[in-house]
Amino acid sequence: MNDEQTFADTIAKDQRVEPRDWMPEAYRRTMIRQVAQHAHSEIIGMQPEGEWITRAPSLRRKAILLAKVQDEAGHGLYLYSAAETLGADRGDLTRRLIEGRQKYSSIFNYPTLSFADVGVIGWLVDGAAICNQVPLCRSSYGPYGRAMIRICKEESFHQRQGYELLMTMMGGTPAQREMVQDAVDRWWWPSLMMFGPPDDQSPNSAQSMAWKIKRHSNDELRQRFVDMSVPQAEALGVTLPDPELSWNAERGHYDFGTPDWDELKRVISGDGPCNAQRIAHRRKADEDGAWVREAAAAHAARKAGTRS
Ligand code: 3HC
Repeated sequence: MNDEQTFADTIAKDQRVEPRDWMPEAYRRTMIRQVAQHAHSEIIGMQPEGEWITRAPSLRRKAILLAKVQDEAGHGLYLYSAAETLGADRGDLTRRLIEGRQKYSSIFNYPTLSFADVGVIGWLVDGAAICNQVPLCRSSYGPYGRAMIRICKEESFHQRQGYELLMTMMGGTPAQREMVQDAVDRWWWPSLMMFGPPDDQSPNSAQSMAWKIKRHSNDELRQRFVDMSVPQAEALGVTLPDPELSWNAERGHYDFGTPDWDELKRVISGDGPCNAQRIAHRRKADEDGAWVREAAAAHAARKAGTRS
């Protein structure tokens, strides 16, 4: 078999494509695009919750939030390492992010206005991540699928700690219950948008699914997330801000309203509430860390020089 046939056979048999295997250039480009943007999302995603670490209401909440934000940094590093196995350069990917030539998830462009947002991000945003990322454990590119296995285990802790925080607040004062409901009202629709545009407006899905990078379509995963979240909202005692939400016994799923796709387009193109702040923060972190990278590179070069 020639290279193309070997690649097609690997995909057809649900086997993994590994870094040393031949792959179509378009597959490599798609994998770098998706893995890099996933990594960018994890790193930018540290900002919204990171703002609350110094203002956590107790030492326990601070310790939990610290662990979660630290996990997100680790997820970003695994994913940048996976992108490097495809020949990408981490510094180049960071420049693409900062210069707006690569994307990160729209969800992180919304502000975190109260500590209840920390709980709702854990419950809804990390819950959406779990719906999206569990199938990616079976992604055809080996290093990506394997990175997802560890990431998904940590995401389930993220979702549980968020939901437990909300259960605690819902058992608290009326003001705390109002804070939770306000956060749910603000994060519900952006969480649905996390899954991407509707399938009939998703230019990458068909090819990504043919290559088994993506295992389900955007709308399928969005539906799974809604079906999972409605009973959890009922148990929590909050109302989801969608009057069209109702159980459809015929379909065996919840019917729900249409997200504002124009809002998603605006946020993806940089016009969300916090896009400029998120990129400015990432740019400053990159600039502030330049000396560390230069020192490490100089040290490595000197060590290599002494060995040769
Ligand atoms: N935010 C930003 N951009 C988005 C987006 C979103 N929510 N949804 C779609 N897009 C972009 C796509 O990147 C694509 O643009 P590009 O071609 O320039 O990359 C365009 O909109 C069209 O969308 P498609 O549906 O055709 O694109 P994909 O097939 O790539 O599907 C995706 C989009 C579902 C996000 C897919 O890329 C994916 O599953 N990525 C891996 C998971 C991921 O990145 N999750 C982001 C959240 S990270 C996270 O959850 C961290 C956790 O700790 C909270």
